[in-house]
Amino acid sequence: MTRFTVNGQPVHYRMDARTPLLWALRDASNLTGTKYGCGAGQCGACTVHIDGAPARACQVTIGSIEGAFVTTIEALSRDRSHPVQQAWVAENVPQCGYCQSGMIMAAAALIEKNPDPSDEEIDQAITNICRCGTYPRIRRAIRRAAQ
Ligand code: FES
Repeated sequence: MTRFTVNGQPVHYRMDARTPLLWALRDASNLTGTKYGCGAGQCGACTVHIDGAPARACQVTIGSIEGAFVTTIEALSRDRSHPVQQAWVAENVPQCGYCQSGMIMAAAALIEKNPDPSDEEIDQAITNICRCGTYPRIRRAIRRAAQ
């Protein structure tokens, strides 16, 4: 049995310890805001926070994060007051929207660590892929959230 905390709630998954966190969140906890894109650690659609740092949930086994604190987009956006979420709305960032929860999680982790990132630092930190090409709006939203 694997135990850790998801969005402030203790979880006890009765799943194989090698199960990717992405599938435990989606299938066992019904937290479907965390998306499956590539399953290979490339796209970032599955980005969550583990102990405050961004992580690609498709690449993290549940057995490797015993005792950790996991945060998903559902907790970040719960009361619609997070500055990154507000900036995303103000800049009308999404197009198709599929990658956006991962983008917001990556952006929130960046702002937490670096409250005033330069464009270069944004580009280095946000390695998630958006096939609609919303990158200019993502940069603007991150700068807005950082104000
Ligand atoms: Fe995890 Fe693409 S689904 S990085």
